[in-house]
Amino acid sequence: MVVLGIETTCDETGAAVVERRQDGSGAILSNIVLSQAKDHAAFGGVVPEIAARAHVEVLDQIISAALAEAGHTLETIDAVAAAAGPGLIGGVIVGLTTAKAIALVNQIPLIAVNHLEAHGLSPRLIASVPFPYCLFLASGGHTQIVAVRGVGDYVRLGTTLDDAIGEAFDKTAKLLGLGYPGGPLVEHEAERGDATRFDLPRPMLGRADADFSFSGLKTAVRLEAQRIAPLHEPDVADLCASFQQAVTDVVTDRLAIGLDLFRMSFGAPTALVAAGGVASNRAIRAVLHRIAMEARTVLVIPPPELCTDNGAMIAWAGAERLACNLMDPLDISPRARWPLDAVSKPMSKDQRADA
Ligand code: KG4
Ligand code: ZN
Repeated sequence: MVVLGIETTCDETGAAVVERRQDGSGAILSNIVLSQAKDHAAFGGVVPEIAARAHVEVLDQIISAALAEAGHTLETIDAVAAAAGPGLIGGVIVGLTTAKAIALVNQIPLIAVNHLEAHGLSPRLIASVPFPYCLFLASGGHTQIVAVRGVGDYVRLGTTLDDAIGEAFDKTAKLLGLGYPGGPLVEHEAERGDATRFDLPRPMLGRADADFSFSGLKTAVRLEAQRIAPLHEPDVADLCASFQQAVTDVVTDRLAIGLDLFRMSFGAPTALVAAGGVASNRAIRAVLHRIAMEARTVLVIPPPELCTDNGAMIAWAGAERLACNLMDPLDISPRARWPLDAVSKPMSKDQRADA
């Protein structure tokens, strides 16, 4: 099965062609991503209106390039998948409407993919990871611990009560004047900073649930920065290092609880899987290794180009859903909000008999 995937939920325009073989293994035939980061840099964050317009301008060319690189045409693909949410609605409309047009003209199935589901299934594109596994989704828009029990079968074990983890990196970078996107810049500064200089809070530490909160941490960084202003270079490095240390402490604590909750409800996970842009942070990756080792499970982190937003993960989720006979009608709506636990599952035999 060869599937074209389209991603337009945030500030990356992505198109990719992915193959899913009979045995469930996958291959990326092409994966083209155009980041709009420079269009948003001056604003220190993604501007929805600019994002939507930028997707419209380039999506056709990105799709053509992805098809050409894969050696395919719209006539030779088996299905088209697009991220139908959650995300910035203008961008989602652009991607989903384009996919609908392709499906209609070529008379091929359309799969409306949940963007979070695509992050969650992405490890199965590069490795054999059986269900059920524990997903840590750490991106600019989301921070979740999810039990992935099967295609369309997700149980959220923890989430953030306020800012997402990547958003906390971005806001910290912005208030320290580092630029956007902030994650890699904060990581770079943190490498030469003193993580013990500032005593920052570790929100939610020790709580019995597996939820996160980052807005208090970001505020604490701002107050410390104001207290010692004007900031010199070593101050910025020390603030970044102290911030990153607080984040990794929180992740360690919250994931340990998340894995406990997983085991209590579903038994031992086959793996701990991390996805989303923040999963490319080296300090976070180091704590993930430790957590997986302590939990006696395997750690799977897709390569950075599959961790950040891309079309291949959308195509792959489309292929996994198609293999379960899960297609969508052409009048399906884009969704700004779409929690993972509301994603549809394949019907059981009994349900099919009733239908
Ligand atoms: O998954 P992603 O590309 O897009 C979303 O779905 O949000 O994640 C982007 C987020 C941004 O907040 C960015 O600052 C963060 O991931 N990020 C990082 C790193 N690289 C990207 N955060 C910390 N350290 C990094 N190295
Ligand atoms: Zn994402």
